[in-house]
Amino acid sequence: MPIKASAPSSVLLVCLGNICRSPTAEEIFRQQAAIAGLDIKIDSAGTGDWHIGHAPDTRAQRHAKLNGYNISKLVARQVTADDFRNFDLILAMDTQNLTDLQAIKDGIDEPEETLAKLALFSEEDPTYGGDDVPDPYQGESEAFEDVIERIESSTQAWIESWKTN
Ligand code: 4NP
Repeated sequence: MPIKASAPSSVLLVCLGNICRSPTAEEIFRQQAAIAGLDIKIDSAGTGDWHIGHAPDTRAQRHAKLNGYNISKLVARQVTADDFRNFDLILAMDTQNLTDLQAIKDGIDEPEETLAKLALFSEEDPTYGGDDVPDPYQGESEAFEDVIERIESSTQAWIESWKTN
């Protein structure tokens, strides 16, 4: 399948803690990109610093595994200004993450076109477009399953948007 020239060569997935949503998104994006034959560098980070160096939340690991994704080796880190220089596209799991990322970007005194594009993760999704991927941290199993369903759907939508017809 031919890929549009506008397809990014690197994508960073961002949530609050980098232990539930964005590590799950990192692995799902990596698998779907590989299946689509897309050569994209993929990473994840959190806007917060509480979980730097930690493995993903054990509930997120369990639900990822139940759905065929192994996120056990991922390690949380905090997003930095350099991420805006090093990635083509940064995707925020929810609107608060998007606001926090925009504030970091606005603080970088460099030409906008040299910095990563910023968007809501659900932006291209025909089913969940414009929705947050809800924070599952205080939730039950269903919240973690819902996260996976939304992430699979929105990842597929981004990848479809980069294919030419
Ligand atoms: P995440 O979930 O942003 O999907 O990784 C959270 C993880 C930790 C916290 C909040 C959300 N926390 O407050 O520590």
